[in-house]
Amino acid sequence: MDFTSMLLFSFASIVFIFLFRFLLKLFSSTGRKLPLPPGTLGWPYIGETFQLYSQNPNVFFASKVRRYGSIFKTHILGCPCVMISSPEAAKFVLVKGARLFKPTFPASKERMLGKQAIFFHQGDYHNKLRKLVLRAFMPEAIKNIVSDIESIAKDSIQSWEGRLINTFQEMKTYTFNVALLSIFGKDEVLYREDLKRCYYILEKGYNSMPINLPGTLFHKSMKARKELAQILGKILSTRRQMKLDHNDLLGSFMGDKEGLTDEQIADNIIGVIFAARDTTASVLTWILKYLGENPSVLQAVTEEQEAIIRSKEECGEEKFLSWADTKRMPITSRVIQETLRVASILSFTFREAVEDVEYDGYLIPKGWKVLPLFRNIHHNPEIFPDPEKFDPSRFEVAPKPNTFMPFGNGTHSCPGNELAKLEVLVLLHHLTTKYRWTVVGTNSGIQYGPFALPQNGLPIRLTQRS
Ligand code: HEM
Repeated sequence: MDFTSMLLFSFASIVFIFLFRFLLKLFSSTGRKLPLPPGTLGWPYIGETFQLYSQNPNVFFASKVRRYGSIFKTHILGCPCVMISSPEAAKFVLVKGARLFKPTFPASKERMLGKQAIFFHQGDYHNKLRKLVLRAFMPEAIKNIVSDIESIAKDSIQSWEGRLINTFQEMKTYTFNVALLSIFGKDEVLYREDLKRCYYILEKGYNSMPINLPGTLFHKSMKARKELAQILGKILSTRRQMKLDHNDLLGSFMGDKEGLTDEQIADNIIGVIFAARDTTASVLTWILKYLGENPSVLQAVTEEQEAIIRSKEECGEEKFLSWADTKRMPITSRVIQETLRVASILSFTFREAVEDVEYDGYLIPKGWKVLPLFRNIHHNPEIFPDPEKFDPSRFEVAPKPNTFMPFGNGTHSCPGNELAKLEVLVLLHHLTTKYRWTVVGTNSGIQYGPFALPQNGLPIRLTQRS
């Protein structure tokens, strides 16, 4: 073989190998070329971001589902995405095929919350954190703080009396204080004001441009985050000196035998406050709106709560609510469930395919984002008839599996769901039995940022019941 032939042969071999690899990538192991899900990717880079954010995001999702069905592709914030809105597909992504999809967040959010926070991880580190978090939030643990939550609820409600309040802002203070109680136990009052000051600056940067230059919101936020970590460092060293066992989240983190670093503990405490506060405050705000609009439901909840007060008086039990009392509130619990469904405050979540995945005859390419659309499932008329109607009685029958996921599903599902329900029940007990409220101003709009909320955070005036 002369030199030219050798060169040609090598070139042909290289082309063949490239072609072979390309074809191998194109065709699945079964030999079929899998299509991408239906849908459009919009403009280069910006994709369909504008269409999504220029309107109520749920209108965007619903119109896509109507056009393409329960699985479709789009392109949002610089990323190709597959959106899914059937219970089976959501179960596949979050539970059955969970190892094929990792959680994913913008890098700026990771920097703010802390890279070591539970949300961003898979595998062993995630499992270990999850055990520690669940230990602090399982019914056995939170049973002991019912009366402390009750004191926080009573103080909050009393401070609203006779004032024009922004419901969401006030609920955020309540849920922040309960989150601190669950993290630091009764010691929380010692650190409440400092932690609050820093956390409130930190949160202002969540949705800001991630430009870390002096004067920017992001920069102020990162400074506040540093200060938060320092305060947490001081709390840790005080606890280490005291050498006492604590039943709260911090105690659970510090008690881990293999040991978490101070940084890991700080990232996860900030992460839990983030996960616990606005979510629960949004739900409470929606509940007040729905109860206000549905007097017969409010009446039924009030009667259920009054019956608990009466039965405690008759038995000569102490006046504080107990864990057992909160299990005797089926009507109020259904109001919470229905609010979680209608409002679906976490409309969707994000995952990223860690490899090429075949689902339902479609290819979900590696690196693409996958969004299970909880809200679309909760508003599917075939699953929940007349879905826009607020009707707690629909939960008298348990929903079908994987159709009701306000707290997610699978390995990353919400470990704080029992605490969230408990703090809502306790607040509603005192609110409905002693007070009534009227909405001030327009009552119909919804704002998104990032959770859906009644317009202007639902301004209300609270008065004692006559
Ligand atoms: C009504 C209020 C709440 C709602 C609707 C809610 C909803 C959710 C959802 C849907 C997820 C899963 C997200 C995903 O799969 O990507 C989640 C995760 C999480 N939630 Fe909640 N949550 C609430 C309250 C709380 C509270 C009170 C806490 C803590 C005390 C909490 C702590 C967490 C944590 C730590 C995670 C991450 C779990 C993991 O990645 O393994 N949440 N929440």
